[in-house]
Amino acid sequence: MADSIFIPEAASRADIYEALLPQIASIIEHEPNRTANLANVAAVLKEAFGFFWVGFYMRDETDLVLGPFQGPLACTRIAFSKGVCGHAYSIQKSVLVPDVDQFPGHIACSSASKSEVVVPIFSPSGEIVGVLDVDSDRLNDFSEIDVIGLEKIMHVLSTIFN
Ligand code: SME
Repeated sequence: MADSIFIPEAASRADIYEALLPQIASIIEHEPNRTANLANVAAVLKEAFGFFWVGFYMRDETDLVLGPFQGPLACTRIAFSKGVCGHAYSIQKSVLVPDVDQFPGHIACSSASKSEVVVPIFSPSGEIVGVLDVDSDRLNDFSEIDVIGLEKIMHVLSTIFN
């Protein structure tokens, strides 16, 4: 495994997502441990985009539970129907929130978080296993480009849930 990632300079977010895809595939290809792979994907996204908070909430019997992440201390458990994470989990679709104060039921793990995007993660058989949560300390920081890029990365990551 390479010990660093290549991030194209002065590139658009779309181009950076494209550059990350094969690198993430290569990072997880030979590593069967899920925690290790989720941790590295969170680290790669943080390094590539400087997101305020990026991490995983994974399904257990009763809740979504905090998984590997990069950023400040975060809530450990989120009910399946609560917050942006629970909403994305329930509808099994990505949710883009330009202003978290306008999202009813948003869970404020940090008052610095201003906008957010949450993308579901599916196993190869199509079962939802958790969500990726990305927060920004700027309003309206995410667009469909992030949704598309992050969904592609979560598609690559789905192979670890075989
Ligand atoms: N804001 C999320 C909770 C998780 S933290 O942002 C890390 C939500 O409303 O689900």
